Amino acid sequence: MDQTVKLTYNDKIYEFPLVEGTENEVGIDIKALRAQTGLVTLDPGFKNSGSCKSEITFLDGEKGELKYRGYSIDDLADGASFLEVAYLLIFGKLPTSDQLNKFQSDIHQESLVDEDLKAILKSFPRKAHPMGALASLTSALTAFNPESVDVDSEEDMYHAIVTIMAKFPVLCAWTHRKVKGLPLNYSSNDLNYVDNIAQMMFRMPNGTYTPSTTVNSALNKLLILHADHEQNCSTSTVRIVGSSHAGLFASVSAGISALWGPLHGGANQAVIEMLEAIKADGGDTKKYMAKAKDKNDPFRLMGFGHRVYKNFDPRARIIKVAADEVLNEMGIEDPILDIAKGLEQEALNDPYFVDRKLYPNVDFYSGIIYRAMGIPTEMFTVMFALGRLPGWIAQWREMRKNNEPIGRPRQIYTGEVDLTFVPLDKR
Ligand code: CMC
Repeated sequence: MDQTVKLTYNDKIYEFPLVEGTENEVGIDIKALRAQTGLVTLDPGFKNSGSCKSEITFLDGEKGELKYRGYSIDDLADGASFLEVAYLLIFGKLPTSDQLNKFQSDIHQESLVDEDLKAILKSFPRKAHPMGALASLTSALTAFNPESVDVDSEEDMYHAIVTIMAKFPVLCAWTHRKVKGLPLNYSSNDLNYVDNIAQMMFRMPNGTYTPSTTVNSALNKLLILHADHEQNCSTSTVRIVGSSHAGLFASVSAGISALWGPLHGGANQAVIEMLEAIKADGGDTKKYMAKAKDKNDPFRLMGFGHRVYKNFDPRARIIKVAADEVLNEMGIEDPILDIAKGLEQEALNDPYFVDRKLYPNVDFYSGIIYRAMGIPTEMFTVMFALGRLPGWIAQWREMRKNNEPIGRPRQIYTGEVDLTFVPLDKR
């Protein structure tokens, strides 16, 4: 782009180039700012700062659009399998059936997890939050698979990717089985990626397992919808940890910890807990709307608002329809779905929410589907992580292949200056 941006400082004019993306987003390239002017930028929470150029995911927060590698999320959620989408995100193109079969078969080859990892999980108390256990187990994968990855070798990269794609669902299923007090199991080489996840989570040791088409196709859709979301908190964490050349498993483990927080992936658990609390309190949605608007009350309407979407989160729109379908097909009537719809309706007509452009996000309805599937509330964020894995991998791979510099923000120091040290006995 030929245009530049001019900055006047100390009576001097500096020019900075503009960078334009393929969806016409424009940014100011300030790489030379400090060298030329001595200034840095200050942007807590990175509300206006791009950390990288990326070819993976595009979202338009104003229009409420989301695309993976140029394909709309609606089309992918409707027509693709989660593994196809994972391949698309990681390798950049939709796979042919041969490529997909090979990917699946390579994942099958890597799907055993060292039995000693079970000892780590066993050492956690039953009540431990599964996200903590998952972060630890994923980090431990590094110890059990210590070979370093040569990022310039396609073969090495592919092997690391297939290894984590294979073992991560086993670990996620194990955290679920731990919560439920069930024996830990493995995936089956006869099943596809998503059917394996369902089987590992729901197969009982004392009966025949019959897969449910409703559950498995809803799971497929939910995983696709969570698969990537450009530079969100956990993905930025994965990229920044990986930028120090830490390994893929260690970087993903850090991403899991970032995802856990209630302002990020932990919101799906927080939504159900909020809806349950409203139900237990007599279903008075107006009372909770008032609390959400009261600046002296820390309560927020969980599952509402988004850093980037200032319109409907397109994922929420799809999940809301899916929630109705799944509950109908399963013959479940969940009163908290009605409470959720009531809250949404009130928020969409309330100036506080309208003025701040606060709409339901991906987490508002997803928990209702997970609950209908029989997944415990504290497992919801693990389900989010399971979906987000291909996105983390794709972003980590892109960052390493582009040989991006180590992530290291600047700051504006506001502390004390030039104090004289006073020895301990004189203070
Ligand atoms: N309930 C009530 N008020 C809210 C909410 C909410 N859920 N979200 C934002 N606001 C208000 C906020 O108080 C502020 O008001 P004011 O301008 O008067 O000070 C204004 O809206 C802007 O909020 P913000 O906190 O500056 O916006 P942000 O971009 O920093 O935060 C957010 C985005 C998602 C953290 C926030 O909307 C939130 O806390 N939502 C609830 C948690 C949630 O559902 N998180 C899941 C996000 S989607 C899944 C994912 O990808 O992680």
